[in-house]
Amino acid sequence: MEKLLIDGGQSLEGEIRVSGAKNAVLPILAATLLADGPMQIENVPHLQDVTTTMELLGRMGVSLTLDERMNIEVDSSTINELFAPYEVVKTMRASILVLGPLLTRFGQAEVSLPGGCAIGSRPVNLHLHGLEAMGAEIEVKGGYIHARSKRLEGTHLVMDSVTVTGTENLMMAATLAAGTTIIENAAREPEVTDLANCLNKMGANIEGAGTGTIAVHGVEKLYGCQYSVLADRIETGTFLVATAITGGHVRLKNTQPNFLESILLKLKEAGASIHCDADWVEIDMYKRRPKSVDICTAPYPAFPTDMQAQFTALNCIAEGSGTITESVFENRFMHVQEMQRMGANIKVTGNTAIVTGVDRLVAAPVMATDLRASASLILAGLIAEGQTIVDRIYHIDRGYECIEEKLTQLGARIRRVPH
Ligand code: UD1
Repeated sequence: MEKLLIDGGQSLEGEIRVSGAKNAVLPILAATLLADGPMQIENVPHLQDVTTTMELLGRMGVSLTLDERMNIEVDSSTINELFAPYEVVKTMRASILVLGPLLTRFGQAEVSLPGGCAIGSRPVNLHLHGLEAMGAEIEVKGGYIHARSKRLEGTHLVMDSVTVTGTENLMMAATLAAGTTIIENAAREPEVTDLANCLNKMGANIEGAGTGTIAVHGVEKLYGCQYSVLADRIETGTFLVATAITGGHVRLKNTQPNFLESILLKLKEAGASIHCDADWVEIDMYKRRPKSVDICTAPYPAFPTDMQAQFTALNCIAEGSGTITESVFENRFMHVQEMQRMGANIKVTGNTAIVTGVDRLVAAPVMATDLRASASLILAGLIAEGQTIVDRIYHIDRGYECIEEKLTQLGARIRRVPH
C-alpha cells in the first residue's frame, strides 16, 4: 500500500493552479445519464472518485471517451443496465447520485444502498422520501434500492435537513418530471448551483439554485452540451491552510474565492493576510505563527465540514486554544487520535474538540481514515519535526489531484513510496 513521506519544516512559497471540484464533477457525471446526445465535460480533476464514476457509468453501457487533457465525452445512448452494484457504491457513496437520473429518464433503477462510512452513518432516507413524494415506488431489499415509476410528478418537498447529494438527486429527478417541483430547505452549496447551471445548459428549467428554495419546472427532454466544472473550493482551502500552517506565501490560480468566504474569514482571524480577485487568491503569513480560531461546521454558506480537519491541524500548532464543533457528521474526529500521536494537545467531548496549540509537532507514522482527515495529516506533517509517514493514502487520491506534485511545486519535501 502506498504511503507519503513528508519532511516537515519548509514554508510553502509559489503559485499553483486549482483543479475542478470533486463535489461538482460527480453529480455532473451522473447528470449525463439525462442527456439525449453526447456531453463534453471540461476541467475534470484527475481523481479516483472520477475514475470510479466512469467505471460505474461504463458498467451500465454508457460510452465514455477521455482525452489527454482529461476532458470527458459521455454518451448515454448506449445504456443497457440500470444498475449500480454494491462493489462500486461501497467505495464511493456519491454513486447514489445515479438514482434520480436513471429513475426519471428510464422509469426504473436498482442502486446498492451505501453502507456506513468512517465519518458517520450517512443515510439516504431523504433522497428516497423525496422520490416517493414524486410518485416513485421504492423498495429496499437485499441491500439494494429498487425504484420504479411512470413519469415522476412535480411536487412540493420540504427537506427535513439540508443534504447536498439529496438536493442534487431530487433536482435531477425533477428535471424530467411532469410539472413543477419545489425543493425547500435545499442545500445552497456552490456545487449544487454548478449542477443546476449544467442542467439548465442541457435544457432544464431550474430556478433558485444557490438559495434555500429551488424550483424545477419539468421538461420533456434534456440534450447534450459542453460544460466546464467549477473550481474546487475545498482544495483551495486546503492549500491555504497548508500555507498558513507553514508561515508561507502562496497564490492559487483558477479558483473562485467568492465561494470561500467563511474559510477566508477564519484564515484572517488566524493572522493571514489575504488578497484575491475573481479567479485567484493569495495568502501571506509573513513567517508568523497562526493564532487559534474557533470553528463550527454547518451547511453552506457557513463553515464547511470538509475543512474541519485541516483547521484542526492549524489549531494544533497555533498560539492559544480553539474550539472545533462538528455539527454535520457524527463521527468526524478520526484525525484527532493521529494528531495526538504527533504531540497535539486535543480534548474531544461529544462533537467538540478543544485544541490547545503546542510549540511543535513531532513526526510519527500516521494513518489516514477518510479523505479530509488524510489531508489534515499531510498538513500536520508539513510542520512537524522529522519525517511523517502517512499510510492508507488511497483516501487522498479520491479527492485531491496530484497533491504531492502541487506541494512539491510549493517547496514542500514530500514523496510517495510504494510500501
Ligand atoms: C456531501 C459532500 C461531502 C460533504 C457533505 C456535507 C458530495 C459528493 N459530498 O456529502 O463532501 O462533506 O456533503 O457538506 O457532494 N442525511 C440524512 N439523510 C439523508 C441524507 C443526509 O440524515 O438522506 C444527513 C447525513 O447523515 C449528514 C447530513 O445529513 O449528517 C449532511 O449530509 P449530506 O449533505 O447528505 O452529505 P453528502 O451529500 O453525502
